[in-house]
Amino acid sequence: MIVAVTTEPPADDIGIRPMEPGDAARLVEFHEALSEHTKERRYFTPHPHLTDAEVHHFTNVDHNRREALVAVVDDNIVGVGRYEMLHDPLAAEVAFVVGDAWQRRGIGRALFEALAQRAIANGIHRFVADTLDGNAPMIGLLRSSGVDVREEHELGRAEFVLTLIDGGSGALPQRHPHPHDGGAGGDGAVSEGRTPDGTT
Ligand SMILES: CC(C)(COP(=O)(O)OP(=O)(O)OC[C@H]1O[C@@H](n2cnc3c(N)ncnc32)[C@H](O)[C@@H]1OP(=O)(O)O)[C@@H](O)C(=O)NCCC(=O)NCCS
Repeated sequence: MIVAVTTEPPADDIGIRPMEPGDAARLVEFHEALSEHTKERRYFTPHPHLTDAEVHHFTNVDHNRREALVAVVDDNIVGVGRYEMLHDPLAAEVAFVVGDAWQRRGIGRALFEALAQRAIANGIHRFVADTLDGNAPMIGLLRSSGVDVREEHELGRAEFVLTLIDGGSGALPQRHPHPHDGGAGGDGAVSEGRTPDGTT
């Protein structure tokens, strides 16, 4: 099931669909091709290879308490966005990673928006994100998400709380048009500490 498609840029069709157990080999291939820099920003520590347990965990989600979406081009994964519900069922922790060659083309934003729609449909009101304080792309993505954003910076880490549901309407607030959107509205870790088993 494709839940979002964008065609510019790049020219390639980029589909966004839910992660499936059958994505295991594709996820490994995607991770292996990431630069060490991107892996470190994603996992906060060097993470050259995914373990078998991680691959199983990341590709087996219930699409409710845990959701993962993949951005795909020609059946290859080029990005992952995921959330994992916290102990507070109205909140979920998110994580994203986009392949180096595909960054800054609107994929992270498309994943965020598709993931937010899935979260809202599952009764989640807030996203929480933890990132390195110097991670300008991730911080920029969150700050420009168009939803209410609160952030705290401490000890080299930045924690964000993003309100998805404004006044209980269930709708994402409008944001300014983005060149990557082609004018249309938009329709994934082991993140440390907070979630029981991590979210990629
Ligand atoms: C963070 C990340 C997912 C963003 O994905 P992306 O597809 O490159 O982002 P987009 O092209 O959708 O950009 C969306 C917004 O993010 C911000 N952004 C993206 N790349 C940026 C950069 N290099 N510098 C500053 N801001 C940047 C901008 O605000 C951008 O909006 P704009 O294009 O209107 O300026 C990607 O850089 C990535 O995978 N990084 C490594 C992993 C990581 O850091 N994950 C976060 C921790 S879980």
